[in-house]
Formats: sequence, structure tokens, C-alpha cells
Amino acid sequence: MPQKLYREWREAAGQMRSLLQELQDLGVDELGRVPRPEELPLCPVDGSGGDLCRPETLEEIRTDLGECQRCPLARGRTRLVFGCGSATARLVLVGEGPGREEDLQGIPFVGEAGRLLDRMLFAMGLSRDEVYICNVVKCRPPGNRDPAPPEIAACEPFLARQLAAIRPRVILALGRFAAQTLLQDDAPVSRLRGHWRSYQGLPLMPTYHPAFLLRNPAAKREAWEDLKQVMLRLRQSDG
Ligand code: URA
Repeated sequence: MPQKLYREWREAAGQMRSLLQELQDLGVDELGRVPRPEELPLCPVDGSGGDLCRPETLEEIRTDLGECQRCPLARGRTRLVFGCGSATARLVLVGEGPGREEDLQGIPFVGEAGRLLDRMLFAMGLSRDEVYICNVVKCRPPGNRDPAPPEIAACEPFLARQLAAIRPRVILALGRFAAQTLLQDDAPVSRLRGHWRSYQGLPLMPTYHPAFLLRNPAAKREAWEDLKQVMLRLRQSDG
């Protein structure tokens, strides 16, 4: 080995020895390797965990859901309606469950209520691509009946994981069903709406369901007040 290289090697080895000695003096008895992001454990759904965990992706949740047969709703569905929109949305809208059109297309809120929802988003200066839209249950309840408790129990963990994956600035709960399920509060939506609540540390605003607004246009005024609060909160969270 050439003299110069030998000297450099000895110097580096000496520095390494004193570094190891220093670490030993500090009480470090094991040197860890910095894990690659994909090796980190998944973050809990409550958003805790900081940098020591990684959020699950929507694709991973969709894969885990698969051709779900976890509840009886699976038997009657044409398509499972997972959710649509941006994985980094600042606003997530949660409805009740797919209706006839949604069941056929596999996309949430594409029927008449969905067209009103699009107009509500437009009034807020938002488009479908910027937000994320999903439901409490992912398969159509027959005849559009309310989802039953075991059906909600089977499906709600996936909604919780979707919300944890996105961690939006605001959740908008559309209607009694979404608001009561997410908040675990059986107060009527007329009482819940318009008041900020929290879901897993995320601000949640309950408001009327667009299908209700189609039947009760007079309630649109109150819904607009709720949407204005959401717009303000989103603006505030920008700065
Ligand atoms: N109503 C809902 O609650 N969700 C949909 O996706 C469609 C209608």
C-alpha cells in the first residue's frame, strides 16, 4: 500500500475509534440505521406519531378493501364506491352511502344530489378534483334504506383510515347519517349543523345532505352559512 494512502487510512481509523469511544461514553450501545420511509410503521388514525410513522396511502386502503364481502351490502351492489378526488385534499366531504347512480358508476355523488353538491362546491370556489368525496358505507343499501349498524361497523374503519391518510384541513359531514356516525352523537342534524366539532383532531362541520336540500330548498340558506364557515377555516389554514 502506498505510504500516503496508509497514513490516510490510519488517520480515518483513529477518528472512527475516538468517535466510537465518545458514543460509548454517552451510553450508546447500539448504532441504528435510519429506516427508509416505507419501513416506518403506519401512523395511528388519530394523527399522532409525528415523523416516526408514515401515513397509509389511499391505494393501500383500497387494496386492503379488495372485493369486500365484510357485510350483507356486498350481495346487492353493482360496484363498490370507494371515494374520489385528491389524496392531498384540504377538504373531505363525507356522505351516507351510494345511491342507484353511484352504485352503477362506482363514483360518489353522481346523481341528482351529486349535481347539487357540485354546485355547492362551485359556490365555494372548489372543484371535485381539489376535494375528496366519500361515504360512510361503500356499497348501496337496498332501496336506499339507512345502513344498518353491523354494515356501518364493517365499513367505518375504512373511512377512518381514508381520513387518516388524507388528514384534510376540514371534514364536511353531509347529513344526519355522516354527522352522527363520525361524531358518535345522535342529536338531529338540525342541531349539529353550523357548529365546529372534531374528528380525530380534525375540524368537522356538519351540514345538511344535498338530497335533503333538494326536498327542502328553504334550508339552503342555513347550509350556505355552514359552507361559508368552512371556506373561512380553509382560508385561515392557508396562512
Ligand atoms: N348520497 C350519498 O350520501 N352519497 C352518495 O354518494 C350519493 C348520494
